Amino acid sequence: MQTTVNPDLITRAVNFIRSRVDFPIQAAVVLGSGLSELAKVDNPIEIPYAEIAGYPVSTIPGHKGSLILGFQKDISVAYFLGRKHYYEGEGIDKAVFSVRLIAALGIKNIILTNAAGGIREDLSPGDIMMITDHLNFMGTNPLIGAHHSQWGERFVDLSNLYNQQFLEYAMAGAQEKTIILHKGIYAAMSGPSYETPAEIRMLKMLGADAVGMSTVPEAIVAAQHGMRVAAFSLISNKAAGLQASLNHAEVMEAAQTALPRLKTIIDSLLSRIDAE
Ligand code: HPA
Repeated sequence: MQTTVNPDLITRAVNFIRSRVDFPIQAAVVLGSGLSELAKVDNPIEIPYAEIAGYPVSTIPGHKGSLILGFQKDISVAYFLGRKHYYEGEGIDKAVFSVRLIAALGIKNIILTNAAGGIREDLSPGDIMMITDHLNFMGTNPLIGAHHSQWGERFVDLSNLYNQQFLEYAMAGAQEKTIILHKGIYAAMSGPSYETPAEIRMLKMLGADAVGMSTVPEAIVAAQHGMRVAAFSLISNKAAGLQASLNHAEVMEAAQTALPRLKTIIDSLLSRIDAE
């Protein structure tokens, strides 16, 4: 039987991090495939996930597996470099460990990032899409299982999951720097195979603009904890059937071209959060 994530496990991890970092943390940023370079803070404190008791370490190339804390101008930020995915097979609760930890650290603002396949015609490799809503096709939900009331409600309202204020901040930041920031609906699949062309046609009919294998479980758990959530998809490829074939190397490559633009958008969002 796999160990499940429980409040004691999270408390142990928090105590360990708090032994290294004593300042309040205003925002957390979870970085997906190939996006580790976005974590630039002054006087960084780096804690490899492997040093944090109970932390599920990812096995995916491009996912670095460490926590970087520090200040960016005046705002204190925790960058999570790499995430555990549901498809790694260790249970959905492992995929949301970071978010439980972020909540227990007292962080109220979370920015999630991912690489995704573009379904809507105007979404091409290198484009950035801010998630306005999602379709959960993972076949599971991270809130299934024991309910710990200190984590929040059993039945969590997702009517306003992706924070409207954050959407406005990010749009304003992008416009100021003349960066195109798309908005759209993200469909989460379990993976790890990419979708079939027929599945992509189905998702398109159901209103999905982009598709990926992460973010949704984390966003749901963040909502349970009452956090404000922003989420960005970096379009790494056109989804199956809309281009010849798909591969992970291409996902990593597209991430590189969009990195400076995504960094500008996230930095401007962080500075607007700081100015509140
Ligand atoms: N499908 C699912 N996940 C992905 C894709 C895709 O096309 N691209 C990057 N992550």
